[in-house]
Amino acid sequence: MGKVFIAPSILGANPISIAQGIDSLGSEYDWLHVDVMDGCFVPNISYGSSMVKALRKQYREAFLDVHLMIEKPERMLEDFIGAGANLISFHAESTPHLHRVVQFLHEAGVKAGISITPSTPADALRPMLPFLDLVLVMSVNPGFGGQEFLEFTIDKLHKLTCWRESLGLNFLIEVDGGVNIQNAKKITDSGCDVLVMGSAVFNNDNPARYIRDVKSLIQQEHEWGQ
Ligand code: DX5
Ligand code: ZN
Repeated sequence: MGKVFIAPSILGANPISIAQGIDSLGSEYDWLHVDVMDGCFVPNISYGSSMVKALRKQYREAFLDVHLMIEKPERMLEDFIGAGANLISFHAESTPHLHRVVQFLHEAGVKAGISITPSTPADALRPMLPFLDLVLVMSVNPGFGGQEFLEFTIDKLHKLTCWRESLGLNFLIEVDGGVNIQNAKKITDSGCDVLVMGSAVFNNDNPARYIRDVKSLIQQEHEWGQ
């Protein structure tokens, strides 16, 4: 297992004081996960590229991990690229043009990920794996924070890690939805490299300490497992 990245989802922060939420993480986070929802692909609306732009301005060095839960993401790629996203993930279910979108992102110098909802099999991504920087496995139905982790999605991690090894690829595997300190170890042991955490982190009294605790738990188990 390589380094595990922690990506707090700002959707879990108080929407009228997101910067305060981010500041409460101290320097413990690796990426900032930005959930973009259009009220169409998912039954909720969050924010658009202006949020990414504002984050980029205030957190110059942050790695902005943008998760597009929008129909036909190709319509809006330029906006999010221009706003300063480092990595953009879009849903396999949201466009028939997976390869074209990935190609567009790479030509713009942005890392590309594809996300799948819980009901989409990992096999749907198989032809695209050689082109991806990241696969985002949703472990709740996209649209809302604070839902319970769906255990059956873990099998996809095993499949993806197996393919990654046999094909000699190096895409990262990110898990998003219902992740907390109780299930983090099981998820990273199954091959996940990036843990998205929204409510677990931001509902805690001390978000920075919570992330530290998750990291040391994962690390400890890693050392024992060697
Ligand atoms: C759900 C979003 C997630 C969400 C995770 O549609 O993609 O990133 O913010 O929140 P928690 O960790 O609370 O499940
Ligand atoms: Zn997300």
